[in-house]
Amino acid sequence: MTKFQQRVFSGVQPTGALHLGNYLGAIKNFVELQKKYECVYCVVDQHAITVDQNPSELRSNILEVLASFIAAGVDYKKQIIFQQSSVPAHSQLSWIFNCVSRIGWLNRMTQFKDKAGKNRENVSVGLMVYPNLMAADILAYLATHVPVGDDQKQHLELSRDIAQKFNNDFGVDFFPLPEPLIYGNATRVMSLRDGTKKMSKSDPSEFSRILLTDEDEVIISKVRKAKSDSELIPSSTEDLNSKPECLNLINILSACLNKDSSETLRSYSGKEYSILKKDLGDSLVQIISPIRKEIHNLLNNKDELSNILSTGTEKASAIANPILADIYKIVGFK
Ligand code: TYM
Repeated sequence: MTKFQQRVFSGVQPTGALHLGNYLGAIKNFVELQKKYECVYCVVDQHAITVDQNPSELRSNILEVLASFIAAGVDYKKQIIFQQSSVPAHSQLSWIFNCVSRIGWLNRMTQFKDKAGKNRENVSVGLMVYPNLMAADILAYLATHVPVGDDQKQHLELSRDIAQKFNNDFGVDFFPLPEPLIYGNATRVMSLRDGTKKMSKSDPSEFSRILLTDEDEVIISKVRKAKSDSELIPSSTEDLNSKPECLNLINILSACLNKDSSETLRSYSGKEYSILKKDLGDSLVQIISPIRKEIHNLLNNKDELSNILSTGTEKASAIANPILADIYKIVGFK
């Protein structure tokens, strides 16, 4: 038995409309986990500014992510939804973690290497220490479980390393080692234009991703135009694995239907892509359409959204501030 109270924490960056990868890889699980856990979900605006942001777009994206959480089914009355920058404990703890974490660890982060590319000398320091802030987000709540998509796995391992090193350095058993919850059929939703690339907000092609704010016809047309090939849908998992675009479509449909991928494959093997795409488009419309409508309703009442954020700030601070006070004592600040 662990001495730590079970608590879920996760975050989403307000860097544009959320896409199907964010939904199937993370937010769908946020909703499910609330049945079993106390959950803290955060709009991570401080992470967003590690790359350039337009302030007025950032402001509206924060409300859009909040609205998307609620529209997808996060219960803001029972759980905590809030904005990262409104709880200073995140930045305060991240400074301590900047001093615990090692440069060698950060240098190994593949997401940093991908994002910095050849421009390494010229990206912000924030982009490099971003995983330390992520560890602070989680550990400021002594969170034990972190639902994320597959792309965050390495960052979660780093959070565990930081927690462990802090405990060792100070001879305490203060931080839990947070467990990543990466599950479902869509832990890594791929681009609809290239099955070897992750679906992402930054892909230049709009047709590579489906947004939670897309109209029904747009969803259907993006699925219809998704890259495929001129053959029929394969019947064996081996053949499927050699066709990344087909695998992606099967995985997305399985996630929508809450079915096993092998079962979905069996239903479509030997059939034309057009049949799979028709069913996938219909399933996605069924899921996204009510979410989109609710996002629009919520965004029509910005005062209400601001109130929800203020309540979230109070509830989040009430957990994080006493934890930070204990950390300050351990470190010797107090
Ligand atoms: P972000 O904002 O990029 O993405 C939010 C969540 O969506 C998941 N995700 C995907 N899942 C499956 N397929 C995809 N194509 C896909 N694209 C994105 C991400 O894995 C994530 O779970 N660093 C984090 C935010 C963060 C955080 C945290 C998460 C900050 N602090 C603390 C957990 C705990 C990020 O940039 O996610």
